[in-house]
Amino acid sequence: MKNLINKAKKTLLNNRRRGYTLPTNNKLYPAQWNWDSGFIALGYSCFNLNFALKEIDTLLKGQWNDGMVPHILFHDTNTNYYPNHTAWNCGNKIHSSGITQPPILATILKRILEKKKLNNTQLINVKKITKKIKKFHEWFIQYRDPKKLGLVSILHPWESGYDNSPIWDRSMEKIKIHKNLKYKRADNKLINPEFRPLNIDYDRYVTIKNHLRKIKYNPTKAYKSSLFNVIDVGFNSIFLKANKDLVWLLDKFNLDHSKINKYIKLTEKNFLKLYDKKKGTFYSKDIKNKKKIYIPSITNYFVLFADLDNYEVNKNLIQNLKKYNSKEKYFFSSIKPNHMSFEEKRYWRGPVWINCNWFIYQGLKNKDIAFSNSVKKKTIELLEKSNFYEYFSCKNGQPMGANNFSWSASLYLDLKINEN
Ligand code: DGY
Repeated sequence: MKNLINKAKKTLLNNRRRGYTLPTNNKLYPAQWNWDSGFIALGYSCFNLNFALKEIDTLLKGQWNDGMVPHILFHDTNTNYYPNHTAWNCGNKIHSSGITQPPILATILKRILEKKKLNNTQLINVKKITKKIKKFHEWFIQYRDPKKLGLVSILHPWESGYDNSPIWDRSMEKIKIHKNLKYKRADNKLINPEFRPLNIDYDRYVTIKNHLRKIKYNPTKAYKSSLFNVIDVGFNSIFLKANKDLVWLLDKFNLDHSKINKYIKLTEKNFLKLYDKKKGTFYSKDIKNKKKIYIPSITNYFVLFADLDNYEVNKNLIQNLKKYNSKEKYFFSSIKPNHMSFEEKRYWRGPVWINCNWFIYQGLKNKDIAFSNSVKKKTIELLEKSNFYEYFSCKNGQPMGANNFSWSASLYLDLKINEN
């Protein structure tokens, strides 16, 4: 499959702009996205370490003074994307959105470092990057967990990265859509609208965004007055793993990690409170409306990736995960197919996403080798059959969304080339 490895590299290089990489080569996402860039850096690390570090460097140039790393950086302001830089109306030197995205940089950087191929100049750069990531994580701890629960909140579904997941449905239904919203979507003109979120979803996304803009993205006010506030299992799993990987990085550079270590302990303890022993599943929590959220989403299994120190819980999760897509040819669907909210083709309401498979694979490696290998094999087979699309049907592997999707190419490289 050498050809496909070359094709994956070319996909990244074709999507590359000055110091950063677009999520795809069409006009759907004409900017730099936070977690996309993390996955993209991992892909570059398979063949060009300078590009890998540059991708992260560029993203961190957009870090706000308070530590937040935005979910989008608008390096090019001349696009049809909505919401664009004027709709957000924020950012420092670089125009950006006013919300964040799953913090995967520490995890990615650790993997890059473990290859042991960086030269001294690159290592000096990695130390600087590590300090910025620490500031980002401290921002989460300070502003997204003011009650010191060891679990952080997201204040917009876009922060999760799984925008229109049914996880948010009940919380979103409660949002009173602002009157006279005037905006023009571009996404559903570029991609089959059946694959994209609905207009009512966008009305709500824009309403939350406008509220955050009104309070000038003040992080304390944002938490207190938010229209949407959820402690999500998947997001917190990614953050817990990233904190563990950050400690590893800080240790490597003799930097202080006591605060992060303390936070990890608190998270480990309180994460288990989100476990429903009877059902054998984790649930998310709507903080705004004080409701538990039980949606069978693949992101709930990211707990495996977080490496919680609990053998029983991990064992039960793996058992359930084996049943999650037992009737489908391709896995893992973003939502369990027998659930009423499942939609085979609509973005995060059912399709298979390669980054989800990657998180699960990473989480299984040290717990169930045979299962982890089959996840890896099936994911590679899906990409080899269907190409580097954005997402896929779990029923027949139909590719959907954008083609030449950077993180699908990147994670293909990581799965094929990196041994562990
Ligand atoms: C989009 O534009 O669909 C993005 O997912 C928002 O971050």
